[in-house]
Amino acid sequence: MKKSYKIAVIPGDGTGPEVIREGLKVLKSASSKFGFGVDFTEFDFGGERYKKTGETLPESAVEDLKKFDAIYLGAIGHPDVKPGILEKGILLSLRFALDQYINLRPVKLYPGVWTPLKDKSPEDIDFVVVRENTEGLYVGMGGYLKKGTPDEVAVQESVNTRKGVERCLRYAFEFTKKRNKGKTLTLCGKTNVLTYAFDLWERAFHEVGQKDYPEIKRDYAHVDATCMWMIKNPEWFDVIVTDNMFGDIITDLGAMIQGGMGIAAGGNINPEGVSMFEPIGGSAPKYTGQNVINPLAAICAGGMMLEVIGEGKAGLSIEKAVMEITPKLKSLSAGKMGHSTTEVGDMVAEQVQ
Ligand code: IPM
Ligand code: MN
Repeated sequence: MKKSYKIAVIPGDGTGPEVIREGLKVLKSASSKFGFGVDFTEFDFGGERYKKTGETLPESAVEDLKKFDAIYLGAIGHPDVKPGILEKGILLSLRFALDQYINLRPVKLYPGVWTPLKDKSPEDIDFVVVRENTEGLYVGMGGYLKKGTPDEVAVQESVNTRKGVERCLRYAFEFTKKRNKGKTLTLCGKTNVLTYAFDLWERAFHEVGQKDYPEIKRDYAHVDATCMWMIKNPEWFDVIVTDNMFGDIITDLGAMIQGGMGIAAGGNINPEGVSMFEPIGGSAPKYTGQNVINPLAAICAGGMMLEVIGEGKAGLSIEKAVMEITPKLKSLSAGKMGHSTTEVGDMVAEQVQ
């Protein structure tokens, strides 16, 4: 009997459903080509549901989602809902509740894609950011004192546990080893100022590296310098590992040098549990329903999902297909591709065959 995977699909808000529609098309194409089954179950979590019910995630959501092999997410964010509610209530809640402690974000310039970096080409821009995804400033620890008064104090703390940091580092070392490209893992931190948090990171980095990954070269860069090198010498990087907040920031920078939000994909990974894959661009509400948004980021997220659930060949075939299509697009930006969202999805789905 052929193997079949159960995928939970959360199309979400704005252009999320449009890009997910194309992603599903490509996943079906890959599944028929490579001879496995995919069974999709849709969930309506997002802004519209919240407006109707006042609920971000129903109580059963996490337990329901745990029954799937993976989650495929479009976008979360609605213009009528105050920023923070849906992001915290859905996206961050799922990352935390499902303990998806890795946020894997490849930064790769595909053929024919415009980059704002002069004189840089696909050989120069090809690295991966491993972002810690369940700790740091994102845990929501802290509070106010004398809120709303002139003496107001707001404290927001970064939580870094040895366990949490170490499991992220181990994943990053393992990933660098398997990637087998530059065999270099760069810790991105701020050891000159955040002398507690990044001291822990730095000690764990060298301890784990020295003991269990002596063949991997260990490098270090402060986060500000990392931003500088990503622009000036992106070819220096192989794999970067960093905390949640820095990872959030440098991967938007990464998305820009790889051609924009239209192509940047990410995986929220729990190597021992259920992982969730998404285009990192957001819901782009102003393009909703126009069939002009670029679905490639969602399609690439689908490819990454197949790789992580154990269909490596099929996942790779999606990336290869995308690399055949990027030279045929005028631009990766919404409305400027020279093709509709549907057409781009069709092109990749056919290429996979
Ligand atoms: C991302 C997003 C989220 C984050 C937001 C929407 C909460 O920016 O996935 O990078 O900060 O992690
Ligand atoms: Mn972000």
